[in-house]
Amino acid sequence: MVLGLGVGVVDALGVSIQGLRAFPELPTAKPSIPSTQHALWIWLRGDDPGDLLLRGHKLQALIDPEFTLVQAIDSFLHRDSRDLTGYEDGTENPKDAAAIEAAVAQGKGTGIDGSSFAAVQQWLHDFPKFDAMSHAEQNDCFGRDRDSNEELDEAPDSSHVKRTAQEDFEPEAFVVRRSMPWVAGAEAGLVFLAFGKSFDAYEAQLRRMTGHDDGISDALFRFTRPLTGGYCWCPPIADNGADLTALG
Ligand code: HEM
Repeated sequence: MVLGLGVGVVDALGVSIQGLRAFPELPTAKPSIPSTQHALWIWLRGDDPGDLLLRGHKLQALIDPEFTLVQAIDSFLHRDSRDLTGYEDGTENPKDAAAIEAAVAQGKGTGIDGSSFAAVQQWLHDFPKFDAMSHAEQNDCFGRDRDSNEELDEAPDSSHVKRTAQEDFEPEAFVVRRSMPWVAGAEAGLVFLAFGKSFDAYEAQLRRMTGHDDGISDALFRFTRPLTGGYCWCPPIADNGADLTALG
């Protein structure tokens, strides 16, 4: 299980966590990006959806009535970590020590070191729009070939991997992504999830995706859009669970 606290909870406790803030309002984003900040985010992990539901009920009983459930999303891994469009997701994630450096706060003091800052967005795909594109247009949206997963030699500036190339930011903007597809009846998409040592790298990527740097919007928006957006702070782990010393 991964626990994430929104800035509202931390504020209500009368403390502050350096770098923790609400998901940004981006008034000039093209297209517009919803900010739907909530108090708590709990990511339950397991193989059996029934067990996950029942674990969720137990947790809800523990925190009721202080917290009320706003949303629950069933997400899962698809094939070898693919988005439902068929493209492999996570290829350029930093690995091993580089992943820890990118995703885990260090040198910030006891109670903060070992924690992580998570950005969570639920994206809704428009499959008829995606399916109406030619295979080449679909590849151009991502900047990668779906079958080989190779980066395209001539990827357009609007392609997703050109928008988000982590080493192209100043400072470099590395995060560890662990996004997962979701399905609810006929609707489906991706729960985008990125862990960082702060929110800054993710936010720089999101701003470039929405035209803030050069007016070019990410081609992904041709067939998908975010419904939600939240930031939360995931406390470090201690021997008996989450280490909440930073909250006093
Ligand atoms: C529905 C939404 C999204 C889909 C389907 C998607 C899918 C993908 C895919 C297929 C790749 C190429 C393989 C890889 O390196 O993982 C990729 C790369 C990447 N995406 Fe996304 N993504 C989405 C949203 C986002 C958002 C919102 C951000 C951050 C604001 C983001 C950040 C990145 C980064 C940093 C990379 C690696 C770029 C590089 O360094 O080469 N993605 N994404």
